[in-house]
Amino acid sequence: MTGNRRAALTAIVSNREIVPGTFLMAFEEPRLAAEVRPGQFLMLSIPAAHDPLLPRPFAVFNREGPRVEILYRRVGKGTGRLAGLKRGDSLRALGPLGNGFPLPAPSVASLVLAGGVGIASVHLLLLHLLKHQSVPTTLLYGARSHQEIIPLESLEAQGLRIHIATEDGLRGVKGTVAALLSTTPALWEDGAAASTEAFVCGPMAMLRAVVARLNRPGIRTHVSLESRMACGYGVCQGCAMPFKDKENPERVRYRKVCTDGPVFTADEIPWGKTEAS
Ligand SMILES: Cc1cc2nc3c(=O)[nH]c(=O)nc-3n(C[C@H](O)[C@H](O)[C@H](O)COP(=O)(O)OP(=O)(O)OC[C@H]3O[C@@H](n4cnc5c(N)ncnc54)[C@H](O)[C@@H]3O)c2cc1C
Ligand code: FES
Repeated sequence: MTGNRRAALTAIVSNREIVPGTFLMAFEEPRLAAEVRPGQFLMLSIPAAHDPLLPRPFAVFNREGPRVEILYRRVGKGTGRLAGLKRGDSLRALGPLGNGFPLPAPSVASLVLAGGVGIASVHLLLLHLLKHQSVPTTLLYGARSHQEIIPLESLEAQGLRIHIATEDGLRGVKGTVAALLSTTPALWEDGAAASTEAFVCGPMAMLRAVVARLNRPGIRTHVSLESRMACGYGVCQGCAMPFKDKENPERVRYRKVCTDGPVFTADEIPWGKTEAS
């Protein structure tokens, strides 16, 4: 299912730096809050701003009543401009867009893996799983430094099992999420049902490493991909990436991350042929 192309003009309710370089922005948009599903995204732009001209894609981190929250990392011009917005400033939000994560049956064990700001794309999914699953959900969450870890105490209070890896080693296990996964498989095999659904979002190098370790019987892995997007709804072709051709898996076929994804099963992706980002 693809997303909704309606745009809304809204006003910022809050926009603050919650850990160094990462911001949590809230605005009220009842339709978006009601319609968005875990893993879908919005194209955000600042009305009357011409530099950058193009909107930028962001996952919906959370929704509460009419409120929508976006968690974003300041990496360039667009996110720099977003970071400068204050309460009351205008924002244009187009969406919800994309397919979102497939939601597992309540009895299926779920393993969620997030690297860096990839936590933004899986947070709404985690809230859904905590509410609906009859078996525990586990999150493996990694960041470069302990300072970049987003506080998730409210999810922990709802029963989420959280395991953390940081490359500086000052919080959790020293290393990456992939290392966490391979050194401590019992973390997530413990209590798992016959089949496990894994949901992953993070930088391409992390996706590649994690997917290789999850490639075993009984685990179905869903990956949320990032690509440069200009429109977000299938028109510009800017987000196209190579995927395995269903008829001939040895060949690749370009598909649009915005409308065919951003969530794909790991076996649709030709890992050797996908550019690192
Ligand atoms: C579906 C989707 C959901 C996303 N959700 C979030 C989110 O919830 N929070 C968040 O912080 N970011 C998210 N992103 C990434 C975000 O869109 C980019 O960081 C943003 O567009 C950068 O804009 P900029 O103008 O600040 O950076 P630019 O000046 O355009 O680029 C700065 C640097 O970031 C890299 N970059 C920019 N966009 C991307 C991209 N899409 N993929 C990989 N590298 C990129 C560039 O190569 C460059 O090195 C998402 C991307 C997609 C496709
Ligand atoms: S972003 Fe324009 S086609 Fe996907």
